[in-house]
Amino acid sequence: MIVSVIVAAEEGGGIGYQGRVPWKLKDDLKLFKETTMGHHLIVGRKTWESIGRALPGRTMVVITRQPDYVAEGAEVAHSLSDALVLAQSRGETEAFVGGGAEIYAEALPRADRMYYTRVLARVRCDTLFPWQGELTMREIERREFPADDRNEYAFIWRVLERR
Ligand SMILES: NC(=O)c1ccc[n+]([C@@H]2O[C@H](COP(=O)([O-])OP(=O)(O)OC[C@H]3O[C@@H](n4cnc5c(N)ncnc54)[C@H](OP(=O)(O)O)[C@@H]3O)[C@@H](O)[C@H]2O)c1
Repeated sequence: MIVSVIVAAEEGGGIGYQGRVPWKLKDDLKLFKETTMGHHLIVGRKTWESIGRALPGRTMVVITRQPDYVAEGAEVAHSLSDALVLAQSRGETEAFVGGGAEIYAEALPRADRMYYTRVLARVRCDTLFPWQGELTMREIERREFPADDRNEYAFIWRVLERR
């Protein structure tokens, strides 16, 4: 099973502000949907609550330390390892880790692939993507999008794989 991280970060490495993603990029959301469709999507409890619902067509797994946490329409796991074991036990071929920062930090050392949207702007954020490892990954796909009526900022969709 491939373990993939999927993230959008602005030029300063920010990924969130006050519990939300502080930009609107329709084409990035479309690529996110196409890429994760049919797969397990693993998120931290705060990201789950920020999304506010189970995304259709994906098996969402919410990671929390709370023993009795209930996430309607999603599975609950108590560690990233448990979430990955659950996905693997169901025959998943590529499990996606969709953040936030706490979950990315744990997932990055074991990620085989990264779908990394680079937002070409400086946007105020209070949550940073915890990644310094560009040199250990090679780019296998790159698509550039201008700012327009669909996308608030220009961005680059990059897919990276561990060397
Ligand atoms: N731009 C992007 O691509 C992107 C993607 C995702 C999220 N975000 C943004 O990132 C921010 C949220 O990130 P965050 O780092 O604050 O929160 P988070 O990673 O979504 O969730 C943190 C929570 O996950 C649980 N958790 C973390 N590590 C755990 C472990 N080892 N074992 C069990 N449970 C664990 C804990 O839940 P409990 O407290 O319930 O125990 C913890 O409070 C938001 O602003 C969101 O919009 C951005």
